[in-house]
Amino acid sequence: MKPVKVGLCGLGTVGSGTFNVLQRNLQEISARAGTAIELIHIGARRDNPACDTSGFKVSRDIFAVVEDPEVQVVVELIGGTTVAKELVEKAIANNKHVVTANKALIAEFGNELFAKAQAQGVCIAYEAAVAGGIPIIKAMREGLAANRIEWLAGIINGTGNFILTEMRDKGRDFADVLKEAQELGYAEADPTFDVEGIDAAHKLVILASLAFAMPLQYDKVFCEGISNIQPIDVKYAEELGYRIKHLGIARRRDTGIELRVHPTLIPHKRLIANVDGVMNSVLVQGEAVGPTLYYGAGAGDEPTASAVIADLVDVARAVANDTSTVPALGFTAEYLQDQTILPIDAVETAYYLRMSALDQPGVMNQITQILSNAGASIEALVQKERQSSAQDYVDVALLTNSVLEADMMTAIAEIEALESISGEVSRIRMESLG
Ligand code: HSE
Repeated sequence: MKPVKVGLCGLGTVGSGTFNVLQRNLQEISARAGTAIELIHIGARRDNPACDTSGFKVSRDIFAVVEDPEVQVVVELIGGTTVAKELVEKAIANNKHVVTANKALIAEFGNELFAKAQAQGVCIAYEAAVAGGIPIIKAMREGLAANRIEWLAGIINGTGNFILTEMRDKGRDFADVLKEAQELGYAEADPTFDVEGIDAAHKLVILASLAFAMPLQYDKVFCEGISNIQPIDVKYAEELGYRIKHLGIARRRDTGIELRVHPTLIPHKRLIANVDGVMNSVLVQGEAVGPTLYYGAGAGDEPTASAVIADLVDVARAVANDTSTVPALGFTAEYLQDQTILPIDAVETAYYLRMSALDQPGVMNQITQILSNAGASIEALVQKERQSSAQDYVDVALLTNSVLEADMMTAIAEIEALESISGEVSRIRMESLG
């Protein structure tokens, strides 16, 4: 068989990782693909000391790679949605298959790019776009193909999980941990993408599209980050038997699909609650298989390279066998169905609430009355004693049953308006994931 010829665009963290893993394991990788894989052209604006590309053809103009008539598969690892989009469009127009780790590009422009690729008879593979090294895309599109997916929930941003873990275990400062995540190459170029949930929203949209056979709808995801999480809430959650994790959740309801990213209290006995550091994990509930859990490194050079190269093997296998066959890497457009995405107000979840309440008779009664009017009952409660007689207000942290978000927001506003409550009520959604 003739070797499959590959062009690599970008030599940043993931690009250099991909180059290194490909060179190190080339023989095994080619054996698995059933054909030789040959990296023939690299496009990178600058060298990266993390990899030695001497002996390879390197162009400073990355577009030279997609214009190279010899290249059959373009690996796009430059990130972003401007130049990367143009690059991928050119690659498709030039009849080249594309492998990408670019979640923003797929989440925001995937619908149009997939349509272009399908029309041109090439494929776009994007395993590395979600949960780094975990083969979750392959699990969703192949391993779980028999299932109607009921819901999925994932820790899909390594940086956010690393920050929450360090805050909980070592009492470290948010900014200090974020800086370390940047130095380790986990964080996005703009780290607000990590801490405000945008990166997780990109990944969730991709997973939801595969789970529910629907077009990508990034603009409909509800997204809340972790920058407002207070150490005291981490502590009270632990006392109540819960952990705070930043989750992406997609759930099928009779009325539509929930798509939401937010900090979430989950019971600490769940396996996923114990996924710490930069590790990612995705829990998928299939109607036939039941719950399945996937775990692995969600970011970093070589874990992400592992996913990039897995796609390369799939594509190379198809190219080597018959260049006219496009590998099926998800639902083709004919199978996609529009679905209603539920606004967050229409979502029902349980809640953790923390407030500073005047320590006097009748106050708890006022709070429970408001919650009860909203249909919420209190499932558990922690109230702290006064530390001194000079202290009038005490912390109250409580867990409610499941209630409509809109009703809970009304109740919170009423609680905040009570004279016996000082400041704002902290609110974190809760999921049992059982
Ligand atoms: N910034 C991302 C994360 C990188 O921390 O998970 C992997 O997508």
